[in-house]
Parts: sequence; structure tokens; C-alpha cells
Amino acid sequence: MIKLKPFFVVGTRPEIVKMAPIIHECERRQIDFFLLHTGQHYSDNMSRLFFRDMDLKDPDMNLNIGSGSHSEQTAKALLGIEKELLKEEPDIVLVQGDTNAVLSAALAAIKLHIPVGHVEAGLRSYDVRMPEEHNRRLTDHVSEFLFAPTKKSADILNGEKVWGKVFVTGNTVIDTLEESIQKIIGRKTVADRLKMKEYALLTLHRAENVDDKTTLAGLVHGLLELDTEIIFPAHPRTVTRLTEFDLIKDIEKGDRIHLVEPTGYLDFLALMKSCSFVLTDSGGIQEEVTAPSINKKVFVLRTSTERPEAVESGHATVVGVNPEVFPQMIKQGIENGFSEMKGHPYGIGDASKRIIDILLEHIE
Ligand code: UD1
Repeated sequence: MIKLKPFFVVGTRPEIVKMAPIIHECERRQIDFFLLHTGQHYSDNMSRLFFRDMDLKDPDMNLNIGSGSHSEQTAKALLGIEKELLKEEPDIVLVQGDTNAVLSAALAAIKLHIPVGHVEAGLRSYDVRMPEEHNRRLTDHVSEFLFAPTKKSADILNGEKVWGKVFVTGNTVIDTLEESIQKIIGRKTVADRLKMKEYALLTLHRAENVDDKTTLAGLVHGLLELDTEIIFPAHPRTVTRLTEFDLIKDIEKGDRIHLVEPTGYLDFLALMKSCSFVLTDSGGIQEEVTAPSINKKVFVLRTSTERPEAVESGHATVVGVNPEVFPQMIKQGIENGFSEMKGHPYGIGDASKRIIDILLEHIE
């Protein structure tokens, strides 16, 4: 057994997806680790299904913090993580991305003088309305190991003069995707059930998009103007807001947007593999479309992106949220065709291996 003992923290759906290949890499190399789930995501289809699709063992500890205000979630996780760190005495705490779980774990670890490794460091949207922007900035500045997915994110970190060591590794989301792609061969999707051959795939969940009535109404009405059938696996947060703002009836009347339950990872991958293009405000999906096995166009329903590499490679176009503008931009994009996509800016699927190599070299 190798001496290195990492302590992994996950809290939400994307963290499970992006941390899974690093956990698998530890298993392959017989590295003993501890896996803590804060329980920020707790519904079966937001958590358990992802553990199953990723072939992950159950967490060693689930704090079951659930939903709540940002401070409530962060504080509950902070206390729970500290307790486990004191028991486990790990060599390093590994966090991924920009959720409240990431900030809690980073704070708990540095107060106990345990080094923090931040996977997916150096992303910036420069949009201070986003809770994620604060979480990722604060975490980057207390981390000892910063695993930047691209040279651009490494340059941002060096420009901000972070005190930890910066490494360019690629993004682990590509590792997961390339590891999983074989598993979806022949998989029936909700598109098959709805007998849809051509469709766009839509996701929406960002607080700044769905919590504001005018913005969400503009998005729904603008999307209904597209001449495309749309499959929309909706996040529970979004369904709550669509109901609260009385927008469900507009979706039903429009008969173009097919609202379905959130899917597991493999079902979503199968939908992404077969769709004509993607519409999203998610960060991870902007990366996934650039994977060698996907290579799809994504229209980003936001005013900014912390994934400029996907824009430069031609995979992503940021179309904003103004209903007077974004439907036209999407129609124009479809008309021009999607031939300009090139390269794989987030790597080809070896980020996790590199991250573990770096840790073994520096910590043992
Ligand atoms: C969180 C992350 C976001 C990430 C997203 C992925 C923060 C600040 N945000 O946002 O960066 O992109 O996860 O999904 O950490 N809910 C359920 N079941 C669940 C989880 C949530 O029904 O398992 C509902 C609840 O009504 C809850 C709402 O969704 O209040 C929002 O959930 P929350 O975890 O607070 O934030 P996300 O929007 O998921």
C-alpha cells in the first residue's frame, strides 16, 4: 500500500463526475483514501445515480447537509469536515471546482494545516453575481497544489500570484467521458422513447438565470422561438422556479420543449452523443462537448464564460440571455454550420493520472 492518503470531498453532481476518475486512479494504484460527501445534493437522481454510473464505492461519510442558504450549507459542511479531518489525519484534502462544498473543505483543511489540492483551479468568469466565482477564487488562494486544466487557467493563477504550486493537467471531466463512452453503446434514451430523431439538448440551472423571473421567462420564450425540438432534463431548482413563475404552461403550450426528469450520467452522455447541438448554462457541459468522442456545438445561455478555451476551439458560442438577441444568434449559428470546431482544449483523458503522479512526487 502506498503511503499517500488523500481525503476527497464531493458535494454535488458535477463534483462526483469530475472526482471519480481520480478516485479510480487511487484504486488502481492501491492508494488508501477517504471519501466524504457533504450531501448538498441528496436526491437519488442528483447523487446516488451518479455514484452508480461512475462505479464509485459509497462515501465513507455523508454529512447530509442538504439544501439551505449559502452560509448555512458552507458552515454545516465546514464543521462536519473538520471533525472527519481530525479523525483521519490525511496528507492532502482534494476538492474539485467551485461549489460550497469546495470552499468549506478548503477552509477546514487550512485551519488544521492540511494542504489543499484544487482540481480545476484558475477558472474565472469575472461575474461577481455568481456564488461559484467567490468559491473558486477563495479556494485557489489557499491551495498548495493547483491543478489548472489549461495553460490559460495556469496563467490566470500565476497572474494573481497564488502561493501554491500550479500544474497544467487537462480536465478530469474528459477522463470520465472517455472512460464511459463504451458503456452507452445501444443505450435507449428519452429521445428514443419520445421517438425523436433530431433534437437539441438543453440544461439550465445557474442561480443568476433561473432565480430571476424576467431572465427565466426571457430564456423560455426565446428558446420557444427556435425551429428545433428540444429535450430539457431539468434540475430540481429550475423546475421549482418554472412552477413558481408560472412558466410551465408556456412550455407545454409551445410543444417544442420536452421537459423531462434530470438524468443520470450515462443517460445524459447518450443524449449528448446523439443530439444535433447543445444549449446550456452549465460549465461542465461546455468542456464535455470538446471531448474527442463528442465534438459537438454548444450555445452558452449566459453573458460570460469561465471556459474561453471552448470558445476559441469553436465548440462554444456565448449567446447571452436577452430574448431579443440570443434566438437570432443561435439560428445564425445553425445556418453557418458547425464545421469550425477543432482540437480538444481540456485534454484527451489523462488528467487524473497526471494529478496522482504529481501528488506522489511531491508528497511521499
Ligand atoms: C450547485 C452548485 C453549482 C453547481 C450545481 C450542479 C453551489 C453554490 N452551487 O448548485 O455550482 O453547478 O450544484 O447541480 O454550490 N435540490 C434538490 N435535490 C438535490 C439538490 C438540490 O431538489 O439533490 C434542489 C433544492 O430545491 C435546492 C436547489 O435544488 O434548494 C438548489 O440546490 P443547491 O445544491 O443549493 O444548488 P445547485 O443549484 O444545485
